[in-house]
Amino acid sequence: MDETPVLEMKGITKTYPGVRALDNVDFVVHRGEVHALVGENGAGKSTLMKILAGAQPMDSGEIRINGELVHITSPQKAMDLGVSIIYQEFNLVPYLNAAENIFLGREPRGILPGIIDFRTMYAEAQKCIDALGVKLNVHTPINRLSVAQQQMVEVAKATSRNSSIIAMDEPSATLTEHELQNLFGLIRSLKAKGVSIIYISHRLEEIFEIADRVTVLRDGKLVGTKPIAETDRDEIIRMMVGRELKEKIPKQTAKRGSPALTVKGLSRKGVLHDINLNVHQGEVLGIAGLVGAGRTELARAIFGADPIDAGEIWLNGTRVQIRSPKDAIRYGIGLVTEDRKSLGLILTMVVRENVSLANLGSLTRLGFVNRREEKKIATKFIEDLMIKTPSTEQQVHNLSGGTQQKVVLAKWLFTKSRVMIFDEPTRGIDVGSKVEIYQLMNRLAANGVAIIMISSELPEILGMSDRILVMHEGRIVGELSRDEATQEKIMHLATGGQ
Ligand SMILES: Nc1ncnc2c1ncn2[C@@H]1O[C@H](COP(=O)(O)OP(=O)(O)OP(=O)(O)O)[C@@H](O)[C@H]1O
Ligand SMILES: [Mg+2]
Repeated sequence: MDETPVLEMKGITKTYPGVRALDNVDFVVHRGEVHALVGENGAGKSTLMKILAGAQPMDSGEIRINGELVHITSPQKAMDLGVSIIYQEFNLVPYLNAAENIFLGREPRGILPGIIDFRTMYAEAQKCIDALGVKLNVHTPINRLSVAQQQMVEVAKATSRNSSIIAMDEPSATLTEHELQNLFGLIRSLKAKGVSIIYISHRLEEIFEIADRVTVLRDGKLVGTKPIAETDRDEIIRMMVGRELKEKIPKQTAKRGSPALTVKGLSRKGVLHDINLNVHQGEVLGIAGLVGAGRTELARAIFGADPIDAGEIWLNGTRVQIRSPKDAIRYGIGLVTEDRKSLGLILTMVVRENVSLANLGSLTRLGFVNRREEKKIATKFIEDLMIKTPSTEQQVHNLSGGTQQKVVLAKWLFTKSRVMIFDEPTRGIDVGSKVEIYQLMNRLAANGVAIIMISSELPEILGMSDRILVMHEGRIVGELSRDEATQEKIMHLATGGQ
Protein backbone atom coordinates (compact mmCIF):
# COMPACT_ATOMS: atom_id res chain seq x y z
CA MET A 1 0.00 0.00 0.00
CA ASP A 2 1.13 3.51 -0.74
CA GLU A 3 1.64 5.11 2.64
CA THR A 4 2.59 8.64 1.61
CA PRO A 5 -0.33 10.83 2.66
CA VAL A 6 -2.02 12.60 -0.19
CA LEU A 7 -2.01 15.79 1.88
CA GLU A 8 0.16 16.97 4.74
CA MET A 9 -0.34 20.43 6.22
CA LYS A 10 2.27 21.21 8.87
CA GLY A 11 2.53 24.02 11.37
CA ILE A 12 -0.07 26.13 9.62
CA THR A 13 -0.46 29.54 11.23
CA LYS A 14 -2.73 32.35 10.11
CA THR A 15 -3.41 35.64 11.84
CA TYR A 16 -6.02 38.24 10.97
CA PRO A 17 -6.09 41.62 12.71
CA GLY A 18 -7.03 40.77 16.28
CA VAL A 19 -7.59 37.05 15.59
CA ARG A 20 -5.25 34.09 15.50
CA ALA A 21 -7.39 31.96 13.19
CA LEU A 22 -4.88 29.07 13.02
CA ASP A 23 -2.05 28.36 15.39
CA ASN A 24 0.53 25.77 14.34
CA VAL A 25 -2.02 23.29 12.99
CA ASP A 26 -1.00 19.89 11.56
CA PHE A 27 -3.49 18.14 9.30
CA VAL A 28 -2.85 14.89 7.40
CA VAL A 29 -5.18 13.25 4.89
CA HIS A 30 -4.69 9.77 3.42
CA ARG A 31 -5.56 8.63 -0.05
CA GLY A 32 -9.16 7.54 -0.42
CA GLU A 33 -10.26 8.55 3.07
CA VAL A 34 -13.13 10.72 4.20
CA HIS A 35 -11.62 13.01 6.79
CA ALA A 36 -14.03 15.02 8.90
CA LEU A 37 -12.97 18.42 10.17
CA VAL A 38 -14.97 19.68 13.14
CA GLY A 39 -14.91 22.43 15.74
CA GLU A 40 -17.02 25.23 17.15
CA ASN A 41 -17.96 28.33 15.18
CA GLY A 42 -14.80 30.28 14.49
CA ALA A 43 -12.47 27.36 15.30
CA GLY A 44 -10.62 27.83 12.01
CA LYS A 45 -12.04 25.08 9.78
CA SER A 46 -12.90 27.26 6.79
CA THR A 47 -9.66 29.19 7.13
CA LEU A 48 -7.63 25.97 6.91
CA MET A 49 -9.53 25.01 3.76
CA LYS A 50 -9.11 28.48 2.22
CA ILE A 51 -5.35 28.16 2.68
CA LEU A 52 -5.39 24.73 1.07
CA ALA A 53 -7.42 26.11 -1.84
CA GLY A 54 -5.10 29.05 -2.39
CA ALA A 55 -7.79 31.56 -1.48
CA GLN A 56 -5.87 32.86 1.54
CA PRO A 57 -2.10 32.98 2.13
CA MET A 58 -0.76 31.42 5.32
CA ASP A 59 1.67 33.23 7.60
CA SER A 60 3.82 30.14 8.11
CA GLY A 61 3.73 26.39 7.71
CA GLU A 62 4.16 23.99 4.84
CA ILE A 63 1.96 21.90 2.60
CA ARG A 64 2.91 18.64 0.91
CA ILE A 65 0.86 16.87 -1.71
CA ASN A 66 1.86 13.27 -2.35
CA GLY A 67 4.98 13.95 -0.33
CA GLU A 68 6.07 16.93 -2.39
CA LEU A 69 6.41 20.40 -0.97
CA VAL A 70 4.02 22.74 -2.80
CA HIS A 71 3.35 26.45 -2.80
CA ILE A 72 -0.34 27.06 -3.26
CA THR A 73 -0.27 30.68 -4.28
CA SER A 74 -3.62 30.92 -6.06
CA PRO A 75 -6.89 29.03 -6.53
CA GLN A 76 -5.68 28.06 -10.01
CA LYS A 77 -2.54 26.54 -8.52
CA ALA A 78 -4.63 24.52 -6.08
CA MET A 79 -6.79 23.21 -8.93
CA ASP A 80 -3.70 22.27 -10.92
CA LEU A 81 -2.53 20.27 -7.90
CA GLY A 82 -5.83 18.40 -7.83
CA VAL A 83 -7.46 20.27 -4.95
CA SER A 84 -11.10 21.38 -5.19
CA ILE A 85 -13.14 23.09 -2.53
CA ILE A 86 -16.83 23.61 -2.15
CA TYR A 87 -17.30 26.70 -0.05
CA GLN A 88 -19.81 27.41 2.68
CA GLU A 89 -20.95 30.33 0.57
CA PHE A 90 -21.02 29.03 -2.98
CA ASN A 91 -18.87 30.32 -5.73
CA LEU A 92 -21.22 30.13 -8.69
CA VAL A 93 -21.91 32.80 -11.26
CA PRO A 94 -25.66 33.43 -10.94
CA TYR A 95 -26.47 34.43 -14.53
CA LEU A 96 -24.57 31.58 -16.18
CA ASN A 97 -26.19 28.19 -16.47
CA ALA A 98 -25.15 25.05 -14.63
CA ALA A 99 -22.98 23.67 -17.45
CA GLU A 100 -21.18 26.99 -17.93
CA ASN A 101 -20.44 27.09 -14.23
CA ILE A 102 -19.15 23.53 -14.14
CA PHE A 103 -16.70 24.26 -16.96
CA LEU A 104 -16.01 27.91 -16.20
CA GLY A 105 -12.50 28.84 -17.32
CA ARG A 106 -11.77 25.44 -18.89
CA GLU A 107 -14.50 25.05 -21.48
CA PRO A 108 -13.84 22.23 -23.94
CA ARG A 109 -12.47 23.62 -27.21
CA GLY A 110 -13.45 22.59 -30.70
CA ILE A 111 -11.16 22.16 -33.65
CA LEU A 112 -11.08 25.87 -34.46
CA PRO A 113 -8.96 27.89 -32.04
CA GLY A 114 -10.88 29.84 -29.43
CA ILE A 115 -14.22 28.24 -30.18
CA ILE A 116 -15.98 26.49 -27.33
CA ASP A 117 -17.28 23.03 -28.12
CA PHE A 118 -20.73 23.58 -26.60
CA ARG A 119 -22.07 20.20 -27.51
CA THR A 120 -19.29 18.41 -25.60
CA MET A 121 -19.56 20.86 -22.75
CA TYR A 122 -23.29 20.31 -22.22
CA ALA A 123 -23.00 16.56 -22.65
CA GLU A 124 -20.11 16.28 -20.19
CA ALA A 125 -21.77 18.59 -17.68
CA GLN A 126 -25.00 16.61 -17.86
CA LYS A 127 -23.02 13.41 -17.35
CA CYS A 128 -21.42 14.80 -14.19
CA ILE A 129 -24.80 15.91 -12.85
CA ASP A 130 -26.51 12.63 -13.70
CA ALA A 131 -23.73 10.72 -11.97
CA LEU A 132 -24.77 12.50 -8.77
CA GLY A 133 -28.26 11.11 -9.08
CA VAL A 134 -29.79 14.58 -9.29
CA LYS A 135 -32.52 15.69 -11.64
CA LEU A 136 -31.28 18.91 -13.09
CA ASN A 137 -31.05 20.32 -16.57
CA VAL A 138 -27.60 21.84 -17.06
CA HIS A 139 -29.05 24.57 -19.27
CA THR A 140 -30.80 26.12 -16.25
CA PRO A 141 -29.34 29.42 -15.03
CA ILE A 142 -27.94 29.19 -11.51
CA ASN A 143 -30.26 31.84 -10.12
CA ARG A 144 -33.23 29.63 -10.97
CA LEU A 145 -31.88 26.65 -9.03
CA SER A 146 -32.61 25.90 -5.39
CA VAL A 147 -29.77 26.09 -2.92
CA ALA A 148 -29.55 22.29 -2.86
CA GLN A 149 -29.32 22.16 -6.63
CA GLN A 150 -26.67 24.87 -6.67
CA GLN A 151 -24.67 22.78 -4.28
CA MET A 152 -24.92 19.80 -6.60
CA VAL A 153 -23.49 22.00 -9.35
CA GLU A 154 -20.59 22.79 -7.04
CA VAL A 155 -20.02 19.09 -6.43
CA ALA A 156 -20.18 18.39 -10.16
CA LYS A 157 -17.66 21.15 -10.75
CA ALA A 158 -15.23 19.43 -8.40
CA THR A 159 -15.77 15.90 -9.72
CA SER A 160 -15.51 17.01 -13.35
CA ARG A 161 -11.99 18.21 -12.64
CA ASN A 162 -10.83 14.78 -11.51
CA SER A 163 -9.61 16.30 -8.28
CA SER A 164 -7.75 14.00 -5.91
CA ILE A 165 -8.69 16.06 -2.86
CA ILE A 166 -12.16 17.55 -2.51
CA ALA A 167 -12.96 19.66 0.52
CA MET A 168 -16.61 20.25 1.35
CA ASP A 169 -17.34 23.06 3.78
CA GLU A 170 -20.70 22.25 5.41
CA PRO A 171 -22.17 20.65 2.30
CA SER A 172 -25.12 19.19 4.17
CA ALA A 173 -26.44 22.37 5.73
CA THR A 174 -28.95 22.92 2.94
CA LEU A 175 -29.72 19.37 1.81
CA THR A 176 -32.77 17.21 2.37
CA GLU A 177 -32.28 13.74 3.80
CA HIS A 178 -32.65 12.27 0.33
CA GLU A 179 -30.13 14.65 -1.20
CA LEU A 180 -27.78 13.98 1.68
CA GLN A 181 -27.90 10.26 0.99
CA ASN A 182 -27.16 11.02 -2.68
CA LEU A 183 -24.16 13.03 -1.60
CA PHE A 184 -22.97 10.23 0.67
CA GLY A 185 -23.35 7.71 -2.14
CA LEU A 186 -21.29 9.99 -4.31
CA ILE A 187 -18.65 10.44 -1.62
CA ARG A 188 -18.38 6.66 -1.28
CA SER A 189 -17.87 6.16 -4.98
CA LEU A 190 -15.26 8.94 -5.12
CA LYS A 191 -13.53 7.28 -2.20
CA ALA A 192 -13.50 3.96 -4.02
CA LYS A 193 -11.67 5.72 -6.83
CA GLY A 194 -9.01 6.90 -4.39
CA VAL A 195 -10.25 10.47 -4.04
CA SER A 196 -9.83 11.98 -0.58
CA ILE A 197 -12.67 13.98 0.87
CA ILE A 198 -12.39 16.58 3.61
CA TYR A 199 -15.82 16.91 5.17
CA ILE A 200 -16.83 19.80 7.43
CA SER A 201 -20.10 19.60 9.33
CA HIS A 202 -21.67 20.53 12.64
CA ARG A 203 -23.89 17.45 12.50
CA LEU A 204 -21.95 14.76 14.24
CA GLU A 205 -24.26 11.94 13.20
CA GLU A 206 -23.17 12.56 9.60
CA ILE A 207 -19.56 12.28 10.59
CA PHE A 208 -20.16 8.89 12.15
CA GLU A 209 -21.95 7.79 9.03
CA ILE A 210 -19.43 8.90 6.42
CA ALA A 211 -16.00 9.66 7.89
CA ASP A 212 -12.99 7.40 8.41
CA ARG A 213 -11.11 9.82 10.63
CA VAL A 214 -11.91 13.08 12.34
CA THR A 215 -9.76 16.08 13.22
CA VAL A 216 -10.92 18.53 15.86
CA LEU A 217 -9.92 22.19 16.00
CA ARG A 218 -10.53 24.52 18.89
CA ASP A 219 -9.70 28.24 18.89
CA GLY A 220 -7.39 27.80 15.93
CA LYS A 221 -5.45 24.95 17.53
CA LEU A 222 -5.32 21.27 16.70
CA VAL A 223 -6.91 19.24 19.49
CA GLY A 224 -6.37 15.87 17.85
CA THR A 225 -7.07 13.43 15.04
CA LYS A 226 -8.85 10.11 15.67
CA PRO A 227 -10.08 7.16 13.66
CA ILE A 228 -13.86 7.33 13.78
CA ALA A 229 -14.04 3.72 14.98
CA GLU A 230 -12.05 4.62 18.07
CA THR A 231 -14.10 7.55 19.27
CA ASP A 232 -17.68 8.50 20.06
CA ARG A 233 -19.96 11.49 20.03
CA ASP A 234 -19.30 12.50 23.61
CA GLU A 235 -15.57 12.43 23.16
CA ILE A 236 -15.72 14.57 20.01
CA ILE A 237 -17.94 17.11 21.72
CA ARG A 238 -15.57 17.20 24.66
CA MET A 239 -12.65 17.78 22.31
CA MET A 240 -14.59 20.53 20.52
CA VAL A 241 -15.76 22.53 23.50
CA GLY A 242 -13.07 21.61 25.99
CA ARG A 243 -15.56 20.66 28.66
CA GLU A 244 -18.37 18.26 29.34
CA LEU A 245 -21.55 19.36 27.60
CA LYS A 246 -25.07 18.18 28.08
CA GLU A 247 -26.60 18.38 24.66
CA LYS A 248 -30.17 18.16 25.90
CA ILE A 249 -32.69 20.62 24.55
CA PRO A 250 -33.55 22.84 27.51
CA LYS A 251 -37.25 23.44 26.79
CA GLN A 252 -39.21 25.52 29.27
CA THR A 253 -42.89 25.84 28.64
CA ALA A 254 -44.10 29.41 29.02
CA LYS A 255 -47.55 30.66 29.94
CA ARG A 256 -49.70 30.73 26.83
CA GLY A 257 -51.40 34.08 26.31
CA SER A 258 -53.87 35.36 23.73
CA PRO A 259 -53.38 34.86 19.98
CA ALA A 260 -50.61 37.13 18.77
CA LEU A 261 -50.54 36.35 15.06
CA THR A 262 -53.33 34.85 12.99
CA VAL A 263 -53.04 33.98 9.31
CA LYS A 264 -56.25 33.33 7.35
CA GLY A 265 -56.49 31.83 3.89
CA LEU A 266 -53.05 32.94 2.82
CA SER A 267 -52.24 31.93 -0.75
CA ARG A 268 -49.56 32.59 -3.27
CA LYS A 269 -50.08 31.08 -6.66
CA GLY A 270 -48.18 27.84 -7.12
CA VAL A 271 -46.41 28.22 -3.77
CA LEU A 272 -48.79 28.51 -0.82
CA HIS A 273 -52.35 27.24 -0.66
CA ASP A 274 -54.93 28.44 1.86
CA ILE A 275 -52.67 28.65 4.89
CA ASN A 276 -54.47 29.09 8.22
CA LEU A 277 -52.57 29.29 11.47
CA ASN A 278 -52.30 31.16 14.68
CA VAL A 279 -49.64 31.45 17.30
CA HIS A 280 -50.18 32.65 20.85
CA GLN A 281 -48.08 34.83 23.10
CA GLY A 282 -45.50 32.68 24.85
CA GLU A 283 -45.99 29.82 22.43
CA VAL A 284 -43.43 28.15 20.20
CA LEU A 285 -45.14 26.95 17.05
CA GLY A 286 -42.91 24.55 15.16
CA ILE A 287 -43.27 24.21 11.40
CA ALA A 288 -41.92 20.96 10.00
CA GLY A 289 -41.74 19.72 6.46
CA LEU A 290 -39.27 18.72 3.80
CA VAL A 291 -37.11 21.25 2.02
CA GLY A 292 -39.33 22.71 -0.69
CA ALA A 293 -42.58 22.27 1.26
CA GLY A 294 -43.10 26.03 1.30
CA ARG A 295 -42.02 26.82 4.84
CA THR A 296 -39.55 29.55 3.98
CA GLU A 297 -42.04 30.92 1.46
CA LEU A 298 -44.64 31.10 4.22
CA ALA A 299 -42.26 33.01 6.47
CA ARG A 300 -41.41 35.42 3.67
CA ALA A 301 -45.08 35.95 2.84
CA ILE A 302 -46.00 36.78 6.44
CA PHE A 303 -43.01 39.10 6.65
CA GLY A 304 -43.98 40.99 3.51
CA ALA A 305 -40.87 39.88 1.63
CA ASP A 306 -42.95 38.20 -1.09
CA PRO A 307 -46.33 39.37 -2.44
CA ILE A 308 -49.43 37.31 -1.65
CA ASP A 309 -52.48 36.67 -3.85
CA ALA A 310 -55.01 36.21 -1.08
CA GLY A 311 -55.25 36.04 2.67
CA GLU A 312 -55.38 38.09 5.83
CA ILE A 313 -52.91 38.68 8.61
CA TRP A 314 -54.15 39.62 12.09
CA LEU A 315 -52.03 40.84 14.95
CA ASN A 316 -53.47 40.82 18.47
CA GLY A 317 -56.97 40.75 17.07
CA THR A 318 -56.53 43.53 14.51
CA ARG A 319 -56.22 43.00 10.80
CA VAL A 320 -53.04 44.48 9.36
CA GLN A 321 -51.69 45.09 5.88
CA ILE A 322 -48.10 43.99 5.43
CA ARG A 323 -46.74 44.98 2.06
CA SER A 324 -43.04 44.99 2.83
CA PRO A 325 -40.59 43.86 5.52
CA LYS A 326 -40.62 47.46 6.68
CA ASP A 327 -44.33 47.15 7.51
CA ALA A 328 -43.69 43.85 9.28
CA ILE A 329 -40.93 45.31 11.41
CA ARG A 330 -43.15 48.29 12.28
CA TYR A 331 -45.84 45.87 13.48
CA GLY A 332 -43.30 44.05 15.64
CA ILE A 333 -42.61 40.99 13.51
CA GLY A 334 -39.03 39.72 13.18
CA LEU A 335 -37.62 37.17 10.78
CA VAL A 336 -34.36 35.33 11.41
CA THR A 337 -33.53 33.71 8.09
CA GLU A 338 -31.34 30.90 6.98
CA ASP A 339 -30.19 33.06 4.11
CA ARG A 340 -27.77 35.50 5.68
CA LYS A 341 -27.09 37.23 2.42
CA SER A 342 -30.50 38.35 1.28
CA LEU A 343 -32.54 39.29 4.34
CA GLY A 344 -30.01 38.91 7.09
CA LEU A 345 -26.98 41.08 7.11
CA ILE A 346 -25.07 43.78 5.33
CA LEU A 347 -21.75 41.99 5.09
CA THR A 348 -19.58 45.06 4.60
CA MET A 349 -20.91 46.79 7.71
CA VAL A 350 -19.48 46.09 11.14
CA VAL A 351 -21.11 43.99 13.85
CA ARG A 352 -22.37 47.05 15.76
CA GLU A 353 -24.16 48.49 12.73
CA ASN A 354 -25.73 45.17 11.79
CA VAL A 355 -27.13 44.63 15.26
CA SER A 356 -28.93 47.98 15.23
CA LEU A 357 -29.95 47.79 11.57
CA ALA A 358 -33.59 46.87 12.06
CA ASN A 359 -34.14 49.16 15.00
CA LEU A 360 -32.18 52.30 14.27
CA GLY A 361 -35.16 54.42 15.23
CA SER A 362 -34.75 53.62 18.88
CA LEU A 363 -31.17 54.87 18.79
CA THR A 364 -31.79 58.00 16.78
CA ARG A 365 -32.42 61.44 18.25
CA LEU A 366 -32.92 64.41 15.91
CA GLY A 367 -31.43 62.42 13.07
CA PHE A 368 -28.30 61.38 14.93
CA VAL A 369 -27.57 57.78 15.86
CA ASN A 370 -26.33 57.45 19.42
CA ARG A 371 -23.12 55.52 18.67
CA ARG A 372 -22.18 55.01 22.27
CA GLU A 373 -25.50 53.41 23.09
CA GLU A 374 -25.31 51.38 19.89
CA LYS A 375 -21.94 50.05 20.90
CA LYS A 376 -23.13 49.20 24.40
CA ILE A 377 -26.00 47.17 23.00
CA ALA A 378 -23.80 45.33 20.50
CA THR A 379 -21.33 44.52 23.27
CA LYS A 380 -24.09 43.04 25.38
CA PHE A 381 -25.27 40.78 22.55
CA ILE A 382 -21.69 39.71 21.82
CA GLU A 383 -21.48 38.52 25.42
CA ASP A 384 -24.97 36.98 25.63
CA LEU A 385 -24.70 35.02 22.40
CA MET A 386 -20.96 34.33 22.67
CA ILE A 387 -20.38 35.98 19.30
CA LYS A 388 -16.78 35.26 18.34
CA THR A 389 -15.49 38.62 17.09
CA PRO A 390 -12.48 40.68 18.13
CA SER A 391 -14.71 43.75 18.63
CA THR A 392 -17.99 45.45 17.78
CA GLU A 393 -16.11 47.08 14.89
CA GLN A 394 -15.35 43.93 12.90
CA GLN A 395 -16.89 43.74 9.42
CA VAL A 396 -19.38 40.92 9.30
CA HIS A 397 -17.92 39.26 6.21
CA ASN A 398 -14.78 38.58 8.25
CA LEU A 399 -16.69 36.46 10.75
CA SER A 400 -17.04 32.69 10.47
CA GLY A 401 -20.26 31.31 8.95
CA GLY A 402 -21.91 30.33 12.21
CA THR A 403 -20.87 33.56 13.87
CA GLN A 404 -22.65 35.55 11.16
CA GLN A 405 -25.79 33.60 11.98
CA LYS A 406 -25.51 34.73 15.58
CA VAL A 407 -25.30 38.37 14.47
CA VAL A 408 -28.57 37.88 12.57
CA LEU A 409 -30.12 36.65 15.80
CA ALA A 410 -28.81 39.61 17.77
CA LYS A 411 -30.23 42.01 15.22
CA TRP A 412 -33.75 40.68 15.59
CA LEU A 413 -33.57 40.31 19.33
CA PHE A 414 -32.73 43.99 19.55
CA THR A 415 -35.91 44.92 17.67
CA LYS A 416 -37.89 43.54 20.60
CA SER A 417 -40.35 42.00 18.16
CA ARG A 418 -43.53 40.54 19.62
CA VAL A 419 -43.71 37.87 16.94
CA MET A 420 -40.48 36.15 15.98
CA ILE A 421 -40.15 33.85 13.00
CA PHE A 422 -37.04 31.69 13.09
CA ASP A 423 -36.17 29.96 9.82
CA GLU A 424 -33.62 27.20 10.52
CA PRO A 425 -32.23 29.12 13.49
CA THR A 426 -29.41 26.70 14.34
CA ARG A 427 -28.23 25.85 10.85
CA GLY A 428 -24.44 26.04 10.83
CA ILE A 429 -24.37 26.69 14.58
CA ASP A 430 -22.08 24.50 16.69
CA VAL A 431 -23.45 22.14 19.33
CA GLY A 432 -22.58 24.33 22.28
CA SER A 433 -24.11 27.50 20.86
CA LYS A 434 -27.29 25.69 19.84
CA VAL A 435 -28.20 25.29 23.48
CA GLU A 436 -27.69 29.05 23.98
CA ILE A 437 -30.11 29.75 21.16
CA TYR A 438 -32.76 27.44 22.64
CA GLN A 439 -32.35 29.14 25.98
CA LEU A 440 -32.82 32.45 24.30
CA MET A 441 -36.06 31.22 22.75
CA ASN A 442 -37.21 30.15 26.20
CA ARG A 443 -36.52 33.63 27.49
CA LEU A 444 -38.40 35.27 24.63
CA ALA A 445 -41.40 32.98 25.16
CA ALA A 446 -41.36 33.67 28.90
CA ASN A 447 -41.60 37.35 28.01
CA GLY A 448 -44.73 36.68 25.98
CA VAL A 449 -43.18 36.71 22.52
CA ALA A 450 -44.94 34.46 20.02
CA ILE A 451 -42.47 32.28 18.16
CA ILE A 452 -42.75 30.46 14.85
CA MET A 453 -39.84 28.08 14.39
CA ILE A 454 -39.20 26.50 11.01
CA SER A 455 -36.72 23.67 11.23
CA SER A 456 -35.63 20.59 9.34
CA GLU A 457 -34.04 19.11 12.41
CA LEU A 458 -36.70 16.93 13.96
CA PRO A 459 -35.10 16.71 17.42
CA GLU A 460 -35.17 20.50 17.51
CA ILE A 461 -38.81 20.66 16.36
CA LEU A 462 -39.86 18.00 18.86
CA GLY A 463 -37.76 19.44 21.65
CA MET A 464 -38.67 23.12 21.40
CA SER A 465 -42.22 23.30 19.98
CA ASP A 466 -45.40 23.57 22.04
CA ARG A 467 -47.35 22.68 18.93
CA ILE A 468 -46.29 21.52 15.48
CA LEU A 469 -47.68 22.19 12.02
CA VAL A 470 -46.50 20.04 9.15
CA MET A 471 -46.33 21.39 5.61
CA HIS A 472 -46.33 19.51 2.34
CA GLU A 473 -46.39 21.04 -1.14
CA GLY A 474 -47.41 24.49 0.05
CA ARG A 475 -50.19 23.31 2.36
CA ILE A 476 -50.52 22.68 6.04
CA VAL A 477 -51.29 18.98 6.16
CA GLY A 478 -51.39 18.31 9.86
CA GLU A 479 -51.18 19.64 13.37
CA LEU A 480 -49.64 17.77 16.30
CA SER A 481 -49.56 18.68 19.96
CA ARG A 482 -46.27 18.51 21.80
CA ASP A 483 -47.37 15.33 23.54
CA GLU A 484 -48.53 13.40 20.51
CA ALA A 485 -45.74 14.38 18.13
CA THR A 486 -43.10 11.84 17.14
CA GLN A 487 -40.50 11.75 14.37
CA GLU A 488 -42.51 9.08 12.57
CA LYS A 489 -45.77 11.03 12.63
CA ILE A 490 -44.06 14.17 11.35
CA MET A 491 -42.28 12.33 8.55
CA HIS A 492 -45.48 10.55 7.58
CA LEU A 493 -47.29 13.87 7.16
CA ALA A 494 -44.31 15.65 5.60
CA THR A 495 -44.02 13.08 2.85
CA GLY A 496 -47.66 13.45 1.91
CA GLY A 497 -49.19 10.67 4.01
CA GLN A 498 -52.68 11.28 5.36
N1 LIG B 1 -11.03 37.61 6.34
C1 LIG B 1 -11.01 37.58 7.68
N2 LIG B 1 -10.67 38.68 8.39
C2 LIG B 1 -10.63 38.67 9.74
N3 LIG B 1 -10.91 37.57 10.49
C3 LIG B 1 -11.26 36.44 9.85
C4 LIG B 1 -11.33 36.39 8.41
N4 LIG B 1 -11.71 35.13 8.06
C5 LIG B 1 -11.87 34.44 9.23
N5 LIG B 1 -11.60 35.23 10.29
C6 LIG B 1 -11.65 34.82 11.70
O1 LIG B 1 -10.90 33.63 11.85
C7 LIG B 1 -11.52 32.76 12.80
C8 LIG B 1 -11.75 31.40 12.16
O2 LIG B 1 -12.79 31.51 11.20
P1 LIG B 1 -13.29 30.31 10.29
O3 LIG B 1 -14.18 30.90 9.27
O4 LIG B 1 -12.11 29.54 9.83
O5 LIG B 1 -14.13 29.44 11.34
P2 LIG B 1 -14.97 28.09 11.13
O6 LIG B 1 -14.30 27.06 11.99
O7 LIG B 1 -15.10 27.81 9.70
O8 LIG B 1 -16.38 28.46 11.80
P3 LIG B 1 -17.93 28.13 11.34
O9 LIG B 1 -18.25 26.79 11.90
O10 LIG B 1 -18.73 29.19 12.03
O11 LIG B 1 -18.00 28.22 9.86
C9 LIG B 1 -12.79 33.44 13.25
O12 LIG B 1 -12.55 34.09 14.47
C10 LIG B 1 -13.05 34.45 12.15
O13 LIG B 1 -13.76 35.56 12.63
MG1 LIG C 1 -16.72 27.84 8.38
